[in-house]
Amino acid sequence: MDKFIIKGGASLKGKVKISCSKNATLPILAACLLTEEPCTINDIPQLQDVKTMIGLLSSLGADVKSDKNKVTICAGNKLSLEAPYEIVSKMRASYYVLGPLLARFHKAKVYFPGGCAIGPRPIDLHIKGMENLGAEIQVEHGYIDAKTKSLRGTNILLEGTSGPSVGATVNVMMAASLAQGTTTIIGAALEPEIVDLANFLNSIGAKIESAGSSNIKITGVKKLKGGEWTPISDRIEAGSFACAAAITHGKIEIDNCSPEHLGVVNLILRSIGCEIAESKNKLVINAASNLRPTSIITAPYPGFPTDLQAQFMSVLSIADGTSLITENVFKSRFSHALELNRMGAQIKIEDNVAVINGIKILSGAHVMASDLRASVALVIAGLAAQGETSVSRIYHLDRGYEHIEEKLQKLGANIKRVTDK
Ligand code: EPZ
Repeated sequence: MDKFIIKGGASLKGKVKISCSKNATLPILAACLLTEEPCTINDIPQLQDVKTMIGLLSSLGADVKSDKNKVTICAGNKLSLEAPYEIVSKMRASYYVLGPLLARFHKAKVYFPGGCAIGPRPIDLHIKGMENLGAEIQVEHGYIDAKTKSLRGTNILLEGTSGPSVGATVNVMMAASLAQGTTTIIGAALEPEIVDLANFLNSIGAKIESAGSSNIKITGVKKLKGGEWTPISDRIEAGSFACAAAITHGKIEIDNCSPEHLGVVNLILRSIGCEIAESKNKLVINAASNLRPTSIITAPYPGFPTDLQAQFMSVLSIADGTSLITENVFKSRFSHALELNRMGAQIKIEDNVAVINGIKILSGAHVMASDLRASVALVIAGLAAQGETSVSRIYHLDRGYEHIEEKLQKLGANIKRVTDK
């Protein structure tokens, strides 16, 4: 198992190029199942989750051709309609094959998905969406068995008790693209990754209007064609590098990113004392030598992303005063707090609120990653800590950050990957 050894203290400087978004790439790859014609996806990030999704498509019988960072998927008419447990258990986004298989072949069997340990992650909205479109669903022996004579468009209220669901919006949007008639998703998620998926689907012949608003209208078509697409850049990776710059009081240029997707994040960075200069595809962050405390409340987009909560907790652990973080999306997503406390941080969790009393400096320690964003938060903390930090179980990190150690090394960080014997 690999781990990172980090010697903290270097102030990050230079330029970093952000990769295409993991959370945009995964649904776009699954959407290739909606057509028998080939689809080429460019600049796909070399990540474990992306490999898992490609492996899943291939196990279903799609023809997959990879060439450097591009992959061509041709999902012919003879596919297996069962997503195997061994693959689905590795990654939650595996359930993205449910909508496309059901819409195109009228049948699908998908095991309950695995993924990051960030608290309860129900799938009731996915099931409700498919049922509303006319699917019969049985949940038994750990899998979802779905069938239909044909899917029919309708109005679907997709909001749950925690607000809109990214995954359910994705699944319903894909399924409704091949349903008879018109579907309106009411309470759809607004995330940029949803808009990117809708734009890709429209480029291969779907009729989706108003993606990016809470009511998405999808007029079903008989068939989709092939095409080519490059997913949007990864706003969470960009935000993570901004945190690395902030905690090390550095100055970095973040290239190939979309500052318009980082609205609230940049507001928070400014509020703690970072200068941010935004232009079309890049942002420059120049961090203050003293960081101010703040208050963060996570919420669905355009609110503050839960996927950047852990990274900001690391940064705020050395702010000059007390900060509050309220986690409203995955209410117990705080496993990183205990590990940060091993490094001297003073963080107390009360229900879904973290109270962070800033200290002067973190101290290097052995810490263990428990999920993707928690892992990167520990790496960020290690960059600013006095002495050596080892972050073990970084296979979580490899699921979502492409070449992270090379990118950090180029910015001046002292980080290396070590394989435990
Ligand atoms: C997506 O997960 C992302 N994953 C997550 O990224 C991200 O944390 C999350 O959206 C929120 O932004 C991908 O895009 C692959 P949700 P998803 O359905 O779709 C509740 C990362 O680190 N809910 O929007 O699974 C749910 O419990 C990850 O890259 C239901 O109640 O999240 C949560 O409270 C991890 N019923 C809220 O909705 C459902 O059927 C939002 O979850 C589905 C969700």
